[in-house]
Amino acid sequence: MCGIIGAVGRDDDTLDVLVHGLSKLEYRGYDSAGVALADESVDICKQAGEIDELRAALEGRSIGGSVGIGHTRWSTHGPPTNENAHPHQDCSGDVAVVHNGIIENYQQLRDELVSAGHTFRSDTDTEVVPHLVEEQLRGGTDPEAAVRAAVDRLEGSYAVAVVIAGVERIFAARNDSPLVLGLDDETAASDGGEQRGSAYYLASDVPAFRDHTDRVVYLDDGEFAVLGADGWRVTTLAGEPVEKRVDTVDWDPEETGKSGYDHYMLKEIHEQPRSLRQSLSERVDELGGSVDVGELADLNPRGVQFVACGTSYHAALYGAELFRQAGIPAQAFRASEFATSPPPIGDALVIGVTQSGETADTLSALREAQRRGARTLGVTNVVGSTVARESDHVFYIRAGPEIGVAATKTFASQLASLNLLALGMTSTDGAREIISALRDLPGQVQEVLDASAAREVAETYVESDAYFFIGRELNYPVALEGALKLKEITYKHAEGFAAGELKHGPLALVTDQTPVFAMVTGDGELAQKTIGNVKEIEARNAPVVAVTDGQSDVERYADHVLRIPETHPRTAAVLSNVQLQLVAYHTAALLNRSIDKPRNLAKSVTVE
Ligand code: F6R
Repeated sequence: MCGIIGAVGRDDDTLDVLVHGLSKLEYRGYDSAGVALADESVDICKQAGEIDELRAALEGRSIGGSVGIGHTRWSTHGPPTNENAHPHQDCSGDVAVVHNGIIENYQQLRDELVSAGHTFRSDTDTEVVPHLVEEQLRGGTDPEAAVRAAVDRLEGSYAVAVVIAGVERIFAARNDSPLVLGLDDETAASDGGEQRGSAYYLASDVPAFRDHTDRVVYLDDGEFAVLGADGWRVTTLAGEPVEKRVDTVDWDPEETGKSGYDHYMLKEIHEQPRSLRQSLSERVDELGGSVDVGELADLNPRGVQFVACGTSYHAALYGAELFRQAGIPAQAFRASEFATSPPPIGDALVIGVTQSGETADTLSALREAQRRGARTLGVTNVVGSTVARESDHVFYIRAGPEIGVAATKTFASQLASLNLLALGMTSTDGAREIISALRDLPGQVQEVLDASAAREVAETYVESDAYFFIGRELNYPVALEGALKLKEITYKHAEGFAAGELKHGPLALVTDQTPVFAMVTGDGELAQKTIGNVKEIEARNAPVVAVTDGQSDVERYADHVLRIPETHPRTAAVLSNVQLQLVAYHTAALLNRSIDKPRNLAKSVTVE
């Protein structure tokens, strides 16, 4: 939700570094984009639309400076226009600010600043910040203190970065929105083979500067950073020095490229065998029939409450079922609801499932749980993310960077990781079979990818009015996820239902124009009951697409079959989901949708 980049200490290519960084952050928002470069004055260029519009606007313009900040926006206050694009400036044009988050007291600050004679040009909450800085500078405060004082007035969530004319520094602060520094302070050969000095970066996320350095410092809430070509420092907002750890990221810049695929989403769907192997590696002892989840094995939860949003909520539903199967009371809650009306927590362990580790609703829910004395565990993909740092315990799903806005490989890795957690923290019946199914899972995902008929199914039903998905038990979250993926990237109406619920209302929606995807795996009671529901659908002339391992006779009632290998019900859910990812992808491709950057969405939702 909005991407920020900043760079200082580059030779002559600050602008290129900023624009390249923004292109890596576009998954966070793509309504509008802009850059500000500062030396004796501040040059700004900003433009509604995607980064290419900004590139076009920059053509032929001479815009320079050794210190720069940039922004790609996901609108919260005001429509995506040139005026509302960041950076925002003060009245003099000497101060430029980019911001991610929501400033809750902006109206009050704006009224105050307007009364003091400031003129506003945008509808955004952000614009109060440069005017607050200007107000301080007018009063004779030095630049750093002026920014600190301005930030001190803000309530709400923010990651802000500020440049000021004549000051070779970037000032930055964070509260409830991510910011990470990149350090390239060993003399290194530049592209031209020349030596150059230190360069420093800041961004909402590491891919923005990963091409330049792998050394990073994650800012925490309430911290303030100052970056110059001569070095960097982090303090509290009040100015107390903070000692920060320097981390090294362990993935290559290439991992964030498209590797020849048309879309990041397709690449990430195809990366699932590898990302699943990473999730499982060194955590599973197949011979011993056990998994190693380190210190988490000692948590012995008597109850588990999951909190999560969107796709991660679907993973949480699946995870709760795994714990229940091991005899532990477990429920999944939508984080936004939990945060404002939490259930009695008792001595339950509260597990936040979040790919990004930055989702504001999930963070609020975890904080509320901690406030009530609960132990928390973050299950996340992003090392050093806020959830990873704030939770009492963390378990990384190790899926690797995911750029497509629609979560795919991270969902598969969440499901695999939740299996590891349930196995490692409880005594689950049939653990050996589950472990062996997990071992086979990456190879079976590859089989599905190699032989899927999803494209034909997508071609057959691309003109449909609506799409429904049904499943029971572990296939129920898959039904919800299949529908979410389809609606996100095709903009078509899609709903997932617990198969048994269809006859209690949704069946009225079913027509010959509404294909129903039925997840039927195994041939037990669950499969037979779902086949009963399939027959009800067939009787209403709706096309049926069966996602099945072929063990039952569901194919007799289906118009199309998407086949998965025979396996354990837990891993069958992952395989069925791969088929549904492909259906969503191909349908969106046929409709020529903006697959990696669907309208109105952002990868990381850092506002509540
Ligand atoms: C759907 C999707 C979203 C996210 C949700 C939570 O494809 O990506 O529904 O799952 O916004 O995000 P995280 O997992 O980062 O907390």
